[in-house]
Amino acid sequence: MPRIVLLPGDGIGPEVTEAAVSVLRVAAARFQIPLEFETQPIGARALRDGLPALPTSTLAACQMADAVLLGAVGDPEFDRAPRDARPETGLLQLRKALGLYANLRPAKVWPGLESSGPFLPDRIASTDMLVVRELGGGLYYGEPRGLDSSGTAVNTLRYSAGEVERVAEVAFRLARARGRKVTSVDKANVLETSQLWRSTVERVAARYPDVTLDHLYVDACAMLLVLDPRRFDVVLTENLFGDILSDEAGAIAGSLGLLPSASLGSGPGLYEPVHGSAPTLAGRDVANPIGAIASAALLLRHSLHHEAGASAIESAIGAVLAAGLRTADLAPAGSASLGCAAMAEAIAARIS
Ligand code: IPM
Ligand code: MN
Repeated sequence: MPRIVLLPGDGIGPEVTEAAVSVLRVAAARFQIPLEFETQPIGARALRDGLPALPTSTLAACQMADAVLLGAVGDPEFDRAPRDARPETGLLQLRKALGLYANLRPAKVWPGLESSGPFLPDRIASTDMLVVRELGGGLYYGEPRGLDSSGTAVNTLRYSAGEVERVAEVAFRLARARGRKVTSVDKANVLETSQLWRSTVERVAARYPDVTLDHLYVDACAMLLVLDPRRFDVVLTENLFGDILSDEAGAIAGSLGLLPSASLGSGPGLYEPVHGSAPTLAGRDVANPIGAIASAALLLRHSLHHEAGASAIESAIGAVLAAGLRTADLAPAGSASLGCAAMAEAIAARIS
């Protein structure tokens, strides 16, 4: 029986994870997918119990699982803690230990949400892109790194051609099944790592003659994302640029709370909403669970290869939004909204 490890984590993480599991259970029952769940600590939740941010027992459970569903990590209590004692370190260690290098972050403007944000509805309607963020390298992991007492800090941006090639392969493969266009984002006018990135991506592109490739510098990409988001299909980029651009894509979608992600590599996949732990919203049943619920759909698609289950969850999200149901982040000021649990119930009720 497929085993899923749940890592609810911090802030709104537990609420949105519970919401996602409730929808996943309904989809699993509907499609007769046997599932087994096990919950483990990570992040501030673990640190507060005197454990490391990624306890060994949590990692061991994840390594043996078929997939991992995570809520969020991060807590202001640890804002000044050294790196090893920070909640985020637990997540970064987990991504590394599971060999996850391709982070898929689909971002689309759902019908009905065109006016949820500050953008002109006509300009963003039907936007549908997929950010493929390199997840195992770059500035997040480069050595040397550190902060020394003389007031100097160092981080290292390092990429090997092999690291670029494997994530580019994922992006092109996915582009084949989508709009057949890859936009590779770099800073090749300044950075050597980006020059390597660009030439490697071009080499991979030669194996996909049916997919169009263009290149953008990251600054221009940030601008074009808001000016003309519909020009994008698959956006392939390095770790830090992908982190930044996917938050921007969340704003275009109407709320960061909507965005799911799948992190794929050699072992079990890790699924998590793109948003953070949002400590000010925690425990109030106001968080948007859609990012977490859509992450559960990605889990069914990519780890359990159950496309019908994944599509059923995504259609239910679309149906709820089309019916005008909104969480607080999506509702116009002063209008009624659903809580986190109620939104999950509404989505579960539309799974058919
Ligand atoms: C994300 C988050 C993480 C990242 C943090 C929490 C380490 O911002 O998943 O986008 O920077 O990758
Ligand atoms: Mn981020």
